[in-house]
Amino acid sequence: MSPTFVVEFGKDTPPAGDDGRLDAPAFHRNCAPILGVMTRLLGGHEGHAVEVGSGTGQHIIAFGSALPRLTWWPSDPSPAHCRSIEAWRRYSGLGNVMAPVVLDAAQRDWPLGRPGFPPDHGTSGIVCINVVHIAPWAVAAGLLAAAARTLRPDGRLILYGPYTIGGAHTAPSNAAFDASLRAQNPAWGVRDADDIAALAAANGLTLAEMVPMPANNLILVLSVDGLV
Ligand SMILES: C[S@@+](CC[C@H](N)C(=O)[O-])C[C@H]1O[C@@H](n2cnc3c(N)ncnc32)[C@H](O)[C@@H]1O
Repeated sequence: MSPTFVVEFGKDTPPAGDDGRLDAPAFHRNCAPILGVMTRLLGGHEGHAVEVGSGTGQHIIAFGSALPRLTWWPSDPSPAHCRSIEAWRRYSGLGNVMAPVVLDAAQRDWPLGRPGFPPDHGTSGIVCINVVHIAPWAVAAGLLAAAARTLRPDGRLILYGPYTIGGAHTAPSNAAFDASLRAQNPAWGVRDADDIAALAAANGLTLAEMVPMPANNLILVLSVDGLV
């Protein structure tokens, strides 16, 4: 079944350019804090990094620019979003950001290693921003399974978004957001960090770090080697 999109960039916000580049207002609020953590986590890495649910493509352009030793692979299941990602890629002129691929993270077997797709092993990082709460739990399961299969020993799976901790919301606004998501689709909703940790453990990974982020968001760092 195709994923249902709660977010379709370009519907309510003017485009960033007439070449297909879409603009996400949240990107401008989130980019700098996320980039700071990404730089700490992946700044020493070379090789490949995959973004899941790249949306407009603005984040991966920032990552590609700030972390040039990595080759960045954007993806999204939405063809419209992939067109925007490709437009941002061309606009940026960055040689270390690859063309986007259509990828539904809920698939059990991601088509990695195929022509045009990210490699199927030895990956340094997988990053996923604001996706797992607006998608079925199968997306989290797909992410953890793919991370376990493809990350190198010092690789990291980096998840950004709102999470509950021990079943408790970290802010009333997150609780309201969660209720609105579940009203739209009962399969969606803010995930619990403990459930992510349990899923990680079932896949041989460790929830190594939870980084508090602005506006009651968290970055969850899942590692293969158990280290931060
Ligand atoms: C809220 S947007 C976040 C986009 C981008 N990461 C950002 O922060 O600007 C959620 C994204 O998840 C994507 N998405 C929805 N279902 C998905 C799935 N099953 N697998 C991968 N991505 C998915 C949507 O197409 C959309 O681009």
